[in-house]
Amino acid sequence: MGIVRVEPDAQLFDEWYDVYRLAHVHGREATALPFSRREIRAMLGVPLPRSEQRVYAVLDDGAVVGGGWLYLHLVDNTNRAELEVWTYPEHARRGHGSRMLAHLEQVAVAEGRSVLGAEVPWVLDSEEPVGCRSAFMLAHGYANVLSDVQRRLTLPVADDALAALMPEVDGYTLRTWTGSVPEELVAEWADVVASLETEAPMGDLDYEEVTPDVEEIRAEERLAHAQGRVSVAAVAVRPDGRLAAYSQIYVAADDPIAYQWGTLVRREDRGHRLGLAVKVANLRLLQARFPRVTSVSTYNAASNVHMIAVNEAVGFVPTERLGEFQKHL
Ligand SMILES: CC(C)(COP(=O)(O)OP(=O)(O)OC[C@H]1O[C@@H](n2cnc3c(N)ncnc32)[C@H](O)[C@@H]1OP(=O)(O)O)[C@@H](O)C(=O)NCCC(=O)NCCS
Repeated sequence: MGIVRVEPDAQLFDEWYDVYRLAHVHGREATALPFSRREIRAMLGVPLPRSEQRVYAVLDDGAVVGGGWLYLHLVDNTNRAELEVWTYPEHARRGHGSRMLAHLEQVAVAEGRSVLGAEVPWVLDSEEPVGCRSAFMLAHGYANVLSDVQRRLTLPVADDALAALMPEVDGYTLRTWTGSVPEELVAEWADVVASLETEAPMGDLDYEEVTPDVEEIRAEERLAHAQGRVSVAAVAVRPDGRLAAYSQIYVAADDPIAYQWGTLVRREDRGHRLGLAVKVANLRLLQARFPRVTSVSTYNAASNVHMIAVNEAVGFVPTERLGEFQKHL
């Protein structure tokens, strides 16, 4: 029995991935959103300036029986590490998860971290965390500090329904694109994207402001390219050239589900229905460019009434819950 770090080009990576996928999908076949093999390989191989990710396997007799994932912030929130632990379903309740968690916590401490975060899903019909994943986190001293809801939108949404939803946006110009952020917008884009980290409801998450970073945006684009992902984006631009709002979706290679990333309206521009406008504009672009995509998945804090109102207006329906757990060491 032992724990080893798994490199993306190691022979063990494929077996590690198979167990990752199996454990993530087990018992939640309709709602799980595991990364593809190619996406994780790229995440571990393409460097980002502001974070580092490492993955580990629990081995028993040479076979992978569990896994773990550690995410270290390198520039802001350097007191934090995000982690995930899983066990091969048939090997649950034998201590593998606890062994992996202890290992990740040890590495986090060695890296100077004192706050640990972990996201755990549970069924929709309970507001309280239920199931083996949350029982495991609670047993190890983690608290559920923010509750999120996963929602899914079935595509296509009828063009006339989108047209009926699209509000007037007097004084703002809507722009959309796929792929890289246009050079003339990238500084503003970095600014609004960074503000999402603390502008969205945070519950009791201990999370500090993120500084805007154009180099990070460009590095994330290189990563998305290596993953086979395409960004689909819409913004509302003010007459002075500043971005008032944005919404971004990632389309993954060979995946019928697209992933809603951030949506945000700057504080001073709220109240003009710009959130709905950028969402509708982005869905139109997504449907036109990627007819193979049959649904979009999104997560919102359960308390985020304005964002949820926009999402439910376009037709998103709740599918699962997700708790953001946290522990201070
Ligand atoms: C949640 C998960 C990470 C826990 O890993 P594990 O190796 O089973 O965890 P451990 O054996 O170290 O369990 C440690 C403690 O967590 C808690 N726990 C774990 N699974 C639990 C469950 N199903 N119900 C209640 N408590 C549970 C218990 O307090 C347990 O201690 P105990 O067995 O002495 O009571 C792992 O089961 C997992 O990946 N689950 C998702 C996929 C899967 O395998 N599903 C099948 C199990 S539901």
